[in-house]
Amino acid sequence: MSSSRYQITNLGTGKATEIETLVGSEGPEVLPLGSLYRDHGVFTFDPGFMATAACESAITYIDGDAGVLLYRGYPIDQLAQHSSHLEVAYLLLNGQLPTADQFKAFTGSITRHTMLNESLLRMFGGFHHDAHPMAMVSAVVASMAAFYHDTTDIYDPRHREIFAHRIIAKIPTIAAAAYKHAQGQPFVYPRNDLDYTSNMLNMFFAVPCEDYKVDPLHAKALDLLFILHADHEQNASTSTVRLAGSTGCNPYAAISAGVSALWGPAHGGANEAVLEMLADIGDVRNVPTFLKRVKDKDAGVRLMGFGHRVYKNFDPRATIIREMCHKVLGQLGGSDDPMFELALRLEEIALQDEYFVSRKLYPNVDFYSGIIYSALGIPRSMFTVMFALARTAGWVSHWLEMIADPAMKIGRPRQLYRGPARRDYVQMVKRK
Ligand code: ACO
Repeated sequence: MSSSRYQITNLGTGKATEIETLVGSEGPEVLPLGSLYRDHGVFTFDPGFMATAACESAITYIDGDAGVLLYRGYPIDQLAQHSSHLEVAYLLLNGQLPTADQFKAFTGSITRHTMLNESLLRMFGGFHHDAHPMAMVSAVVASMAAFYHDTTDIYDPRHREIFAHRIIAKIPTIAAAAYKHAQGQPFVYPRNDLDYTSNMLNMFFAVPCEDYKVDPLHAKALDLLFILHADHEQNASTSTVRLAGSTGCNPYAAISAGVSALWGPAHGGANEAVLEMLADIGDVRNVPTFLKRVKDKDAGVRLMGFGHRVYKNFDPRATIIREMCHKVLGQLGGSDDPMFELALRLEEIALQDEYFVSRKLYPNVDFYSGIIYSALGIPRSMFTVMFALARTAGWVSHWLEMIADPAMKIGRPRQLYRGPARRDYVQMVKRK
């Protein structure tokens, strides 16, 4: 595709600026508008970044209309079918699929970094027993900056690599510690003889008083969910990591900012909200009344797990995960799970409803992920932590890409000011 030229003209003064679009390897052309302020003294205004690219990236590509998602050029369905979460993490971090030797070295490094400093582990004891796990995870990830600051010279590529491996290796350990603390159970140390997701399941569900054997089907299902959630270009949490990281802050602090941003129900918190919603609806017979409330703007109720800022046709991850839901629940003997039946019926009714059709609202990945997590025995409050665990690979890849870019600038948006114009201070005694 070749670039196009646009002309932006001030119709009052006649002053015009010609702007040539930038052309990426995929996707629409992009108008670089940075010169508008210099040439015309005006800012652009685009709340919510509806049509604004905030950076260049070579990691993930989404075509929301066609339902396409590529990690480093590879379609998500191919990765879901053939790859593993750690291989996808390597791909996202390094840009290429690993050779056998490269993968062995990578998994070896991730495996050797799984333990947490004991003082960091003791931090969990300071949290209230009913603290939300996302609050614990965000705080402990930020606190890593206080423990591993010796290797976080962000301008040293080797330090950056150690940081990347360390956070990807330790995030399951942190997630498991948050879970065990909430359960009041003793912490289970990582086992380096297990693969990434089996180790995570073992740290979650093993107890000292009896044997626990990881079910390979559970580990596989979790691994697939992690592949689907590993990256999603410039979403809210990734953009948060980039914005915080652009200040040159400690990278663990930047990742912690991403964890916090993910927590919200409009983003990663949706998987938890979907199951809460299904529990509230309770029965298929209540679906029409519930959808009536969703369509009533004054009720302030949304159909959680539906709609997406970018996908306006279908979410390719939802298609994969929907199939997996059937498979996993079938194999786990939960295909008659009333929550799943309710979700399917709700989806069916919503997809025929003019309100959802006209607004191009389709189920997103989180409509189903919570149902699978539930079937694996993972409690609702941990769902968003699972998402954070998977997305860490994406956050780190974006942070690395940004820090290594010589053109990196601190992220600093402009604003349309609508507050009071300049006015003079009034002494308190004279105020009315
Ligand atoms: N239920 C009911 N109505 C909806 C929903 C929904 N889930 N999503 C959007 N709409 C309606 C809006 O009310 C609006 O209607 P209007 O044009 O009559 O005012 C229209 O669809 C457009 O919605 P916006 O909020 O402008 O769309 P936006 O792109 O800003 O929002 C978002 C996307 C936040 C994901 C939204 O669809 C939503 O809140 N969905 C539910 C939460 C959810 O599932 N989040 C997970 C996202 S995926 C992820 O993070 C992995």
